[in-house]
Amino acid sequence: MRPKVDLRQAINAVSDVVQNRPRPLREFDQIHMKTGDMVLQSEVVANWSDGKRLAFIGDGDAISVCVAYMRSREVLNFGPTKIMVFDFDERTVQAVKRFADKERIEHLDATLYNCLDAFPTTTKYDCFYTNPPWGAYNKGESVNLFVERGIEAIGYDGEGLIVIADDDELPWPKEVLASVQGFSREKGFFVSQMQRKLHAYHLDDAPDLKSCNLYVSSLPDNSDRAKPSSAAPAARLKDFYGRSKEPRVHYVRERKRLDYGKAHDDEYTLELLEEQP
Ligand SMILES: C[S@@+](CC[C@H](N)C(=O)[O-])C[C@H]1O[C@@H](n2cnc3c(N)ncnc32)[C@H](O)[C@@H]1O
Repeated sequence: MRPKVDLRQAINAVSDVVQNRPRPLREFDQIHMKTGDMVLQSEVVANWSDGKRLAFIGDGDAISVCVAYMRSREVLNFGPTKIMVFDFDERTVQAVKRFADKERIEHLDATLYNCLDAFPTTTKYDCFYTNPPWGAYNKGESVNLFVERGIEAIGYDGEGLIVIADDDELPWPKEVLASVQGFSREKGFFVSQMQRKLHAYHLDDAPDLKSCNLYVSSLPDNSDRAKPSSAAPAARLKDFYGRSKEPRVHYVRERKRLDYGKAHDDEYTLELLEEQP
């Protein structure tokens, strides 16, 4: 039985992380999870990955940072032993690294990586987490590529947590859910749990669209299925980030080091008080 989490401390920890998070680029389907859901999700992820090495395949939401920070601040007394974030956005990678450095979180790190490239299988992780582009216009193929990278990160052996759209009123999330479950099965994974309609997002054109936690686990001896990782063929990239939005960017580069929690000089001008006679 886990001890009760101090909600105030948990919310304040996530607030620190949100202050440090780069703003989302809608062009690449970066849409951030709402803060209340991040608090609950972080506890769920820490519990699920307790004592394990966890790879994040993309993480603009910064759940990785919340999980690591809550552990180091002793808001949670459980969580993964190592967290590595793989993301093609250098702003995200540097924000994770700077936060880990500032807060002296030794088990948190990030590296620049584009899912279109073969996965660098130098370390074997025990579990993976991904909240990928949701594949609304390609029947989940974008999700499947992120899931494949997660499966490669764990050497086809372990657990995955996939965060994707879940809505009973729309047809496409059901198609995507079926496609991702079928793809996972082809790779030797079965659906071990599903927590439905959990998270809300800062998504102005679909504010009610929710996502679920879809858990997959490997079948026995599944590492025998492992194949060398290879670059994604163009045929898999159609409508990757939405209708007619194929990938055209290798990396998003950080222009200058920003303090995301503070207003930037170019956001405002100062109209000075009249000098008193
Ligand atoms: C696509 S967004 C999905 C929405 C999610 N709520 C978020 O904002 O993090 C997830 C993450 O994937 C990253 N990403 C997008 N395309 C990628 C690619 N080709 N390779 C690696 N990471 C990518 C984004 O930078 C972002 O951090």
